[in-house]
Amino acid sequence: MGTVTSGMAEQLIRARRATRAFLPDPVPDETIEAVFHLAGAAPSNSNAQPWQVEVVSGAARDNLAGALVAAGRAGRQTVDFPYSDDIYSPVHQGRRAAFGAAVYDALGIGRDDRELRAAYDTKSLSFYDAPHVALLYAPESGDARLTADVGMYAQTLLLAMAAYGVASCPQALLSFYADTVRETLGVTGGKLLFGIAFGYADPTASINSVTVGREPLEKTTRFHR
Ligand SMILES: Cc1cc2nc3c(=O)[nH]c(=O)nc-3n(C[C@H](O)[C@H](O)[C@H](O)COP(=O)(O)O)c2cc1C
Repeated sequence: MGTVTSGMAEQLIRARRATRAFLPDPVPDETIEAVFHLAGAAPSNSNAQPWQVEVVSGAARDNLAGALVAAGRAGRQTVDFPYSDDIYSPVHQGRRAAFGAAVYDALGIGRDDRELRAAYDTKSLSFYDAPHVALLYAPESGDARLTADVGMYAQTLLLAMAAYGVASCPQALLSFYADTVRETLGVTGGKLLFGIAFGYADPTASINSVTVGREPLEKTTRFHR
């Protein structure tokens, strides 16, 4: 095996970005299998590998997008993991607001433009036109440690995709339609954590040139020496 340099790691990690406009071209089956195989190398508590993954393409993808858009229009939201904005501290809320402003600015959607926001939600529920989506399930217990393992898996998957030139967007939004996803795909067991839209990025879409920064290192990390 060749040596991985820090430059390669830097390039790979920074190559992964949330992509929100995709070309219709499907990713070849061999590439899909390679990235999901690689993702399985993710670490987990006691190597339990507590993830369950549904990869959806072709007619099944179109069917799922249709069901999600219909559920979105009908306001039929159901979650496996309860959600409240209260999970975010004021500091987190500030970062969220800056992120939201950057995305909506790039899309040219005003804060109060309900119609354009609704149209954008429809795009989101059809995976930003990505030809594939993966749904990530955590164990039924919803235990935080095992759920964190699914996060480990997810980032490994995203980096594997980046290495193969496959663009992606993690989508918590899809987890707000957990029953729709479960019924449409016939999934039994597990809790839907989030989805990942993937395919090839549309290079002409301005939304794909949005970059969001990160806090300075000292805001999140302390070194004890
Ligand atoms: C668990 C998770 C859920 C996310 N859900 C959504 C989502 O529903 N819609 C969306 O457009 N982006 C979503 N994102 C993407 C984040 O907004 C994005 O990762 C963050 O703003 C940092 O930008 P970057 O990924 O381009 O570095 C999600 C990311 C993660 C990790």
